[in-house]
Amino acid sequence: MKERGNNIFTIYDEVIQQGEKEELLKQKAVSIWMTGLSGSGKTTIAKIVERKLHEQGHLTQLLDGDNVRHGLNKNLTFTEEDRTENIRRIAEVNKLFNACGIVTINCFVSPTVAIREMARDIIGAKSFNEVFINTPLHICEERDVKGLYKKARKGEIKNFTGIDSPFEGSTNPEMTIYTENKTAEESAEELLNFISTKIKYD
Ligand code: ADX
Repeated sequence: MKERGNNIFTIYDEVIQQGEKEELLKQKAVSIWMTGLSGSGKTTIAKIVERKLHEQGHLTQLLDGDNVRHGLNKNLTFTEEDRTENIRRIAEVNKLFNACGIVTINCFVSPTVAIREMARDIIGAKSFNEVFINTPLHICEERDVKGLYKKARKGEIKNFTGIDSPFEGSTNPEMTIYTENKTAEESAEELLNFISTKIKYD
């Protein structure tokens, strides 16, 4: 008889494996992990890239902070502890999408090296690709697309990343995109070229 504690592993061993799903979809299921300040352009770039991948016949899933925090993670705040739990859950969700053969594009501030390393550990280093959207704080603040920096400066929002909560830039990312002197389309093109090499099925 099987040990109860082992059953989970047995079930995952017996279901259709990621490789078969990748074969069906003719793609490698990778995880693109975009990190950067709020307003750095993560989601804007990811949306363009996702559309292009879709047009090329790829199955993708885009996940982003504002979105996930309205559903799965609506009970979480922006303390360090809750941000860690936010990313832990998202990384587990990612793993499931990858197991399904799906290319997953994540747009989360994920502000510390430790948080991103946790995501890398959960998802698995083989599929995890950290992409640092490197946009200086002053540019994000000038753009202030959601008006949040203004509120954070006035003290109306506490623990805001880059203002009164830390952001550690990537030290060893698979890719860095400097957005300062580029259009979103140009940044998206760079990312698309990178992803295309990773998802190629042969
Ligand atoms: S993370 O730090 O836990 O990875 P996440 O990516 O989910 O953050 O959410 C970031 C988004 O939430 C920002 O783009 C912004 O729109 C919003 N937000 C609201 N409050 C904060 C805050 N205190 N710090 C950062 N982002 C915040």
